Amino acid sequence: MRVIIGGGSGFVGRELTRLLRKKGHEVTIVSRQPGPDRITWDDLDADGLPPCEGAVNLAGENLMNPLRWWNESYKKDLFSSRIDTTRTLARAISSAPTPPRSWVLVTGVACYKPSQTALYTEDSEWTPFDLLSQLVKEWEEAGRLSDDVATTTRQVVIRPGAVLGRDGGAMKQMLTPFWLGLGGTLGSGPLLPPTADGPEVLNGVAPALNTNREFTEALGRALGRPTLFPVPGFVMRALMGAERAVVLMEGQRVAPKRTLESGYEYQYPDLRAALGEIVGR
Ligand SMILES: NC(=O)c1ccc[n+]([C@@H]2O[C@H](COP(=O)([O-])OP(=O)(O)OC[C@H]3O[C@@H](n4cnc5c(N)ncnc54)[C@H](OP(=O)(O)O)[C@@H]3O)[C@@H](O)[C@H]2O)c1
Repeated sequence: MRVIIGGGSGFVGRELTRLLRKKGHEVTIVSRQPGPDRITWDDLDADGLPPCEGAVNLAGENLMNPLRWWNESYKKDLFSSRIDTTRTLARAISSAPTPPRSWVLVTGVACYKPSQTALYTEDSEWTPFDLLSQLVKEWEEAGRLSDDVATTTRQVVIRPGAVLGRDGGAMKQMLTPFWLGLGGTLGSGPLLPPTADGPEVLNGVAPALNTNREFTEALGRALGRPTLFPVPGFVMRALMGAERAVVLMEGQRVAPKRTLESGYEYQYPDLRAALGEIVGR
């Protein structure tokens, strides 16, 4: 089958493209830059969606771009690079003569409010409480297909936590839900038919519920190095901007309830196994 991947040139997209091609599928990337096996966002806007069975959007200005200072212009780019590309793809899907069978939008867990005690699943109610959760709301809304198209195109939203990987590594396991939206099976569970009720949401996280501290300690162990003392909050906020520092300093406990219910077996269910694979120990 053919899959169109917005932002397929990036960290996650390169791995997804490699996995799809390895399975014999064709991939066309939507990018700001033209090139082989690519179309640009302008091409997509002008010519419509090329015939395909699946579409994915991974495009977005990097939230941790070390070359950009946390200011209004950067924040604007974080929003527009995700929302405009998602809207362009959703519109192209809706007006395609033969829309794809699946449409997968990858957003993030920033919609869930950081908490020491709460455990979030896909069933958790949430409303925007800060800049990044507002971004997730507008981003997911931009991806909604019209009701008539949604009865034939399966809509999936994946909300990943931090994606780990050196050159792939644990990403195979963490990103496997991508396959689910592309017509594969969810473990032994049945595929849900497309529905006009809105997208299926999957938390794209491993089952182990690790805090930032546990992550740091596990990484230290995997690397055989002592764990560094945590950087004080005020330093992080000053360096990164308070709204962004939340991602690294606080975090949420998010469970992949729906994926686990389906019987899917994770290749790297905990941090130790995942980090061992990535650092090669
Ligand atoms: N990596 C993670 O840990 C993680 C965690 C949670 C959620 N996510 C989300 O998952 C998606 C993919 O993540 P990733 O790490 O693969 O992203 P990435 O490598 O930082 O970027 C993906 C692609 O987005 C395009 N892009 C960058 N800036 C853009 C801009 N200003 N306007 C339009 N397109 C732009 C680029 O493609 P071209 O240069 O080809 O245009 C880039 O290759 C992102 O939306 C990210 O927010 C990632």
